[in-house]
Amino acid sequence: MVLPVEKATTLFPDYIAEAIQLCEKLPLSEVKVNKIVVLGMGGSAIGADILAAVAEKVASVPVLVIRNEEIPNYVDENTFVIAVSYSGNTQETLTALKSAAARKPKQIVAISTGGLLENLSALEKFPLIKVPDGLAPRAALPYSLVPLFLTLQKTVHFPDMHDALTESIHVLKTLRDELISDKRIAQGLHGKIPIIYASTPFFMPAARRWKCQFNENAKQLAYFESLPEADHNEIVGYTKKLPLHQNMAVVILNDSTSSEITQRRLIFFKNAIIKCGCPVYEAQSKGENLLTKLLSLCYTGDLVSLHLAELNGVDPTPVQIIDTLKQEFQKQDSSLRSPAPTGRGPE
Ligand code: PA5
Repeated sequence: MVLPVEKATTLFPDYIAEAIQLCEKLPLSEVKVNKIVVLGMGGSAIGADILAAVAEKVASVPVLVIRNEEIPNYVDENTFVIAVSYSGNTQETLTALKSAAARKPKQIVAISTGGLLENLSALEKFPLIKVPDGLAPRAALPYSLVPLFLTLQKTVHFPDMHDALTESIHVLKTLRDELISDKRIAQGLHGKIPIIYASTPFFMPAARRWKCQFNENAKQLAYFESLPEADHNEIVGYTKKLPLHQNMAVVILNDSTSSEITQRRLIFFKNAIIKCGCPVYEAQSKGENLLTKLLSLCYTGDLVSLHLAELNGVDPTPVQIIDTLKQEFQKQDSSLRSPAPTGRGPE
């Protein structure tokens, strides 16, 4: 039985605290690598996006997120590979991990509740960080995010994120109390196709989270983009008022502490949208550090998506079509049920 997403969402800040506890004694040691590659799909990949955004600011090696069964050529023996799959049974993640393992990377770690990924970790002797089951994968974001950060802190000198995580817990609890019954954004978006704009590329993971939560929880379409890139293409779509603008609503994920140029760019962009008659809503990031800002925006989107689900008259928890698709692929790909050796197993 899966805990309803509404309930799990209210527990999100508590899950961050529990995930920190879970990672207290990770049996991992230092490694030297020149890149970190995280494999994952859907709700299991968002934590990696957040990690990659924060890493851009604070880490000395890049974090690359692969949402595909094929892995890039640059995965090699100087790579740290982390596979994240809440179920442990996602075809793309398992296939990518097998290919990655065959390249003999410096270290592999998996984050999962179990499934075939657990079998593979036992066979190939790489550590599995086992997280609690019983949640929808997207509702388990803290259980992918926190182990990612704390794994890298133990192994590759990634900065200590405990203070940022503690700040996030406080900020999210306040947000939960403020937004749990504030349905204004969802009411404005209801019946329209939302387009979510990140005011800076660093907020892209949050914009994607909003889009995915609208897709999976509210069962509707949504799209996302980021400034400043949107100023070089998408803005042209707001130069002439068209009937289609009436079917859209815009949400901007803003950072009140951003630079003057970012704010000026945003005002220019917003004015173009308003002239086309599209409603524009804003969500402001909260907190001091980038991790808290991103989590506060993600969590705001999570709560809005639940309000939208209610307005759409749908149950946020089941995602039947994704389950059906996964079953189809598992039936076809028998190699996923019996993981083939990848060359890292016992001698
Ligand atoms: O939120 C969801 O249910 C999906 O987006 C899943 O996360 C996605 O299908 C991947 O599955 P898993 O997280 O089990 O690897």
